Amino acid sequence: MQPAFIDLPKIPDARGNLSFLESENHIPFEIKRAYWIYGVPGGEARGNHAFRKSQEVIIALSGSFEVVVKDGTEENRYVLNRSYHAVQVPNLHWRSLENFSTNSLAIILASTTYDENDYIRDYPEFLQEVGVE
Ligand code: TYD
Repeated sequence: MQPAFIDLPKIPDARGNLSFLESENHIPFEIKRAYWIYGVPGGEARGNHAFRKSQEVIIALSGSFEVVVKDGTEENRYVLNRSYHAVQVPNLHWRSLENFSTNSLAIILASTTYDENDYIRDYPEFLQEVGVE
């Protein structure tokens, strides 16, 4: 799995649009957990860590923000501003969520349950673990 945009299905309807996703179908893993980030004050960032095992898919259900993904060598920046777009973030990739618009709502689908030991919160340690330094 590489960092990438995912286009989710969109069913346009005059009564209001509908999108959906299915575990292991539209996203490349079985969903074990969902969490969401909301009420982010302007200028704040979330994330800034990597996971040893957990893979994630991130969606801006409302508003907009940017997902910055680093593999230790390359950096990719994904702007999310549609509820039918997602970004897949592999394990062992440093990622942060930045430039939240007012009242934005991020949902994150994860391939693992919560485990603090899965976090790499120190960037130099991340570079060591991915073998860049
Ligand atoms: P964290 O992932 O560090 O947030 P961010 O990287 O966006 O700043 O999580 C913040 C706190 O929430 C941390 O104390 C752990 C807790 N938490 C859970 O208990 N379960 C979860 O599924 C997540 C994602 C976080």
